[in-house]
Amino acid sequence: MLSVSSGCALLARNSPRSVLAASSSTLGSIGAASLQIQQRRFGHDLTIKRKTGKPVIEAGPYGGGRNSVSGHVATVFGCTGFLGRYLVSRLAQKGTQVIVPFRDEDEKRHLKIMGDLGQVVPMEWDIRDEGMIEECLRHSDTVYNLTGRAYETKNFSFADVNRDGARRIAEVAEASGVSRFIHVSHLNADANSESVFLRTKAEGEEAVRAAFPGATIVRPGPLYGHEDRLLNSIASWPITWHINYGQTRLRPTHSLNVAQALELMMDADNTAIGQTFSLANHRTYTISELMHLVESLTMNKIVRQSVNIPKLAITAAAKVGDLAWWQMLSPDELQRRYMDDKPDAPGTKSWADLGIEPDVLEEIAIVYLRRYRSHLYFEQPVENSGLRLKKEPYRVVD
Ligand SMILES: NC(=O)c1ccc[n+]([C@@H]2O[C@H](COP(=O)([O-])OP(=O)(O)OC[C@H]3O[C@@H](n4cnc5c(N)ncnc54)[C@H](OP(=O)(O)O)[C@@H]3O)[C@@H](O)[C@H]2O)c1
Repeated sequence: MLSVSSGCALLARNSPRSVLAASSSTLGSIGAASLQIQQRRFGHDLTIKRKTGKPVIEAGPYGGGRNSVSGHVATVFGCTGFLGRYLVSRLAQKGTQVIVPFRDEDEKRHLKIMGDLGQVVPMEWDIRDEGMIEECLRHSDTVYNLTGRAYETKNFSFADVNRDGARRIAEVAEASGVSRFIHVSHLNADANSESVFLRTKAEGEEAVRAAFPGATIVRPGPLYGHEDRLLNSIASWPITWHINYGQTRLRPTHSLNVAQALELMMDADNTAIGQTFSLANHRTYTISELMHLVESLTMNKIVRQSVNIPKLAITAAAKVGDLAWWQMLSPDELQRRYMDDKPDAPGTKSWADLGIEPDVLEEIAIVYLRRYRSHLYFEQPVENSGLRLKKEPYRVVD
């Protein structure tokens, strides 16, 4: 007969699936069938975090769900941004309690409903205040840092957010006994880059590594999705993309794939601790190819305005635009638009290490671009858009 304590130990040592396998072979007479039904509805799993030795106890229905408990508490700094919402949604849907630090009351309202009651916890924070950062991650075993700004504001320089902010969060996380720190950087982060943004991103990576040994660094390519600044920008401001004769090469990356990768990293201690991941499209697309893609799918004339704007002229325009108090094309961002996306850095891991097959841009883009169509063509199928889905890769990254 199996005692309660030995049963619990069995449950604790093994995953729910292995418990099922063990149950039929070792428990025999106590009614494997009824146990199986019970187990299918409610499984336990215990994981010991490698860095801190703290337990994470999973419970609830298989496959997660809003009312299951993943056993994790995660803080997502930068949750109010584009990528952040998809990560919070994935975590909360699997029963992780998510702390969502915010600066502006209105920016976190949409996050609150992504999880079960009490599972998404908004907390006000200031990136310069260590006390507030500590409050936000005090109870968390996993901390994500998605904060980052692609342009400077009058209060925050690139270095303030991308380097000093990242370092501060990593230091507080290490001091508070957090198990996992996952930091989102950029595919092109480079200490020698001409772009201040990319330089500070590289400095941020270094600062995080020094402050939190074992941190996972994630380097995504340019993201596309509902709130992106790539496809949306080409569809609504095509003129600002008529530069460099459309020859800059990008590796557009689906935001949902990156959110999925970030979620998986939380439990993939052996794969992810201390590693850097390059998460970008396997193919490169020139800006010109992207403009043709957007034109076909939106059925709008985008490429027609095909006069290349000289660098000098657009740089002057960006400098004037930078004086505005709302975001426009900043000179640093413009500089980045002349830079090709880099191949994966040597020694970094990628999608395959997480078992993810990244989405194909041509197949997904319509979801995000249909809203730019005229009402006359709104419901036309993609086949009518004139888009020729390429059988061959545009150019596989070297
Ligand atoms: N989007 C891309 O194409 C792309 C590509 C590669 C890498 N990345 C990196 O991925 C991360 C997420 O990107 P994203 O597109 O989601 O960025 P995003 O939409 O601009 O969101 C940035 C987040 O950082 C927060 N933040 C910015 N400055 C802050 C400050 N001074 N104090 C506190 N919080 C601040 C924002 O909070 P508020 O809402 O309060 O402003 C927001 O939550 C960033 O690190 C970015 O550099 C993005």
